[in-house]
Amino acid sequence: MSNLAALLEQYEQFKLQGLSLNMERGQPADANFDLSLPILSSVDDSNYRTDNNVDIRNYPGGVLGLREARQVFCEQLRVGPDEIIIGNNSSLDFMARIFSWALIRGVLGSDAPWAGQSPKLIVTAPGYDRHFTLAKALGFELLTVGIDHHGPDMDAVEKLAANDASVKGIYFVPTYSNPTGDSLSQETAERLVSFKAAAADFTIFADDAYAVHHLQNEWPELPNLLETAKKHGTQDRVLLFGSTSKVTFASGGLALAGMSLANIDYWSAALNTQTIGPNKAEQWRHVLFLREYPDGLKGLMRDHAKILKPKFDCVQQVLNDDLGNLNLATWTNPQGGYFVSLDTRLPVADRVVELAKEAGLALTPTGATYPDGVDPNNCNIRLAPTRPPLEEVQQAMALVTCCIKLASAEYKEKHS
Ligand SMILES: Cc1ncc(COP(=O)(O)O)c(C=O)c1O
Repeated sequence: MSNLAALLEQYEQFKLQGLSLNMERGQPADANFDLSLPILSSVDDSNYRTDNNVDIRNYPGGVLGLREARQVFCEQLRVGPDEIIIGNNSSLDFMARIFSWALIRGVLGSDAPWAGQSPKLIVTAPGYDRHFTLAKALGFELLTVGIDHHGPDMDAVEKLAANDASVKGIYFVPTYSNPTGDSLSQETAERLVSFKAAAADFTIFADDAYAVHHLQNEWPELPNLLETAKKHGTQDRVLLFGSTSKVTFASGGLALAGMSLANIDYWSAALNTQTIGPNKAEQWRHVLFLREYPDGLKGLMRDHAKILKPKFDCVQQVLNDDLGNLNLATWTNPQGGYFVSLDTRLPVADRVVELAKEAGLALTPTGATYPDGVDPNNCNIRLAPTRPPLEEVQQAMALVTCCIKLASAEYKEKHS
């Protein structure tokens, strides 16, 4: 039997199993959500006043968020308690508001709104599809640069932004990037905050969605963008974002934005025209929940890692066992975050996703990790192992490697 025929037979065996698996989106598992169940009852009619005697039922409390929440969540973005704004559910929504204001009014230090300047944003690819769709929908032209284990390709960033004042910023994930799992090195952080951009209001939009999502027990020392920028006097260039979507509940939590004190003044004034203040009940119950949790935020994230790490280990093990010596693909081995990024050696990613779908496994659509949904090399596949139970990750990965082998063999046959 030829190699292709043998692989087809193996693939047909998967199809006969009638699988229904999903590794498409980066969602927490129910076991992750269960860790935060006490949040649902942490506030009741006996404790609706905060330590500072703010009544969470009424308006007063401020647009920056509860003091107690700012004290708890500044650890997540590694900023000071005065350098954070706590908003409502969804950091994407928070980022959309900041972008919208930048387009209408500019950022701190802008001499004109961005909208009239054909604004461009640098994005990293492979990257997060929702970054691309959001920025494009608001009218930014996207300029793509690569990303590796130092973070964004700074040579490319500098080339794009050094002489073009319409390049208004960079939008990327500094820690355990979606989907590569790459994190910014200190060297890249230094370059990002200090290079001379043509636009005086060039802004670093750092979506630190996975800042505390380490898979190892000990939290590693990571570059601190805001502190690094302070050394260079460019702290107003940095806007950090995050949320509790993968800390507590994905659709019932808090958005976080970290920034310099001057930016806090600028952005709180803008946001305050839209709202008297954020949902204080949500903030207060997060504070009370984390106060009770053994070792607080760190303890909670360690318990998340206990659930997630075996799934990431399983992905690596199946890839190594099944593809290790075949030269058919390379993949990342992140120490945190929510994804593994795989590149097929041949341009067969779309075929792999198609084969997987036909056999009952949903994967992130090909191209989703690139602006406009087009992967120039048709090779990148985002693997999202967090949501399915471990046994399903194992099954799904066995199918993924079978599909990679089959799609590669088909390609070779066709092009031989
Ligand atoms: C990089 C990144 N940013 C933001 C989000 C969504 O965050 P939120 O739920 O806070 O809007 C995700 C979700 O997958 C993500 O991967």
